[in-house]
Amino acid sequence: MLHPIELPSQIDTRPIPPAVAAKLSSMRARIEAFQDCWDQHRAEQFVAADYELVYQTLDWVRQQQPLIGSRFLEWGCGFAAVACLADELGWNAHAIEAHVDLIVQARKTIASWPAKVDLLEGNFLPPGAAGLAFDPTLPSLGHAGESAYEAWGLDLDDFALVYSYPWPGEDEFHEDVFDRYAAIGAMLLMFIGPNEMRLLRKVRD
Ligand SMILES: C[S@@+](CC[C@H](N)C(=O)[O-])C[C@H]1O[C@@H](n2cnc3c(N)ncnc32)[C@H](O)[C@@H]1O
Repeated sequence: MLHPIELPSQIDTRPIPPAVAAKLSSMRARIEAFQDCWDQHRAEQFVAADYELVYQTLDWVRQQQPLIGSRFLEWGCGFAAVACLADELGWNAHAIEAHVDLIVQARKTIASWPAKVDLLEGNFLPPGAAGLAFDPTLPSLGHAGESAYEAWGLDLDDFALVYSYPWPGEDEFHEDVFDRYAAIGAMLLMFIGPNEMRLLRKVRD
């Protein structure tokens, strides 16, 4: 089962190094330019999180929470900004994205940051996980492409921390997938919406 971990209310006052803030501000400009060409890309599932808040939360987790390892995975990475932030903070960063145009953008981000991120084009759902969905129209379902884990020779239970930005209403599905496939002690961090992050740890039933 998943156990919620309370995040400090002052987490958004944690310092962000100026070099990281500068990278995030140029990232935002790139994302806006990309979204202005929406007709061209049709990456309608891509919405950017609040990366400053995600950085502050990842930093807090790394410093304050017991970790079962250092492997980090971004589910549906878009531009891979969060995976780069994770690398910046010392995580062994991995990222998966299904949309071909976003994979191109993710590669650009990783190269220009520069960051060490293991990036794969494919489906972040482990084989069989789609069967846990209570609604067949959830945006995380129906993506073409292989489940990415096999290419790495890893499974979801090899990751200490998974990050996702679920569409409204699919947070429960992400939690169910994590609860089914992650290791005991691993954590799921979700960006839920403005000023709202959720952190959960898998514990024994
Ligand atoms: C709301 S965006 C979040 C992007 C980024 N993680 C962030 O926090 O800014 C969700 C992303 O997940 C991708 N995605 C959705 N379902 C997926 C799946 N099953 N496998 C891989 N990528 C998926 C979408 O293409 C989209 O880029």
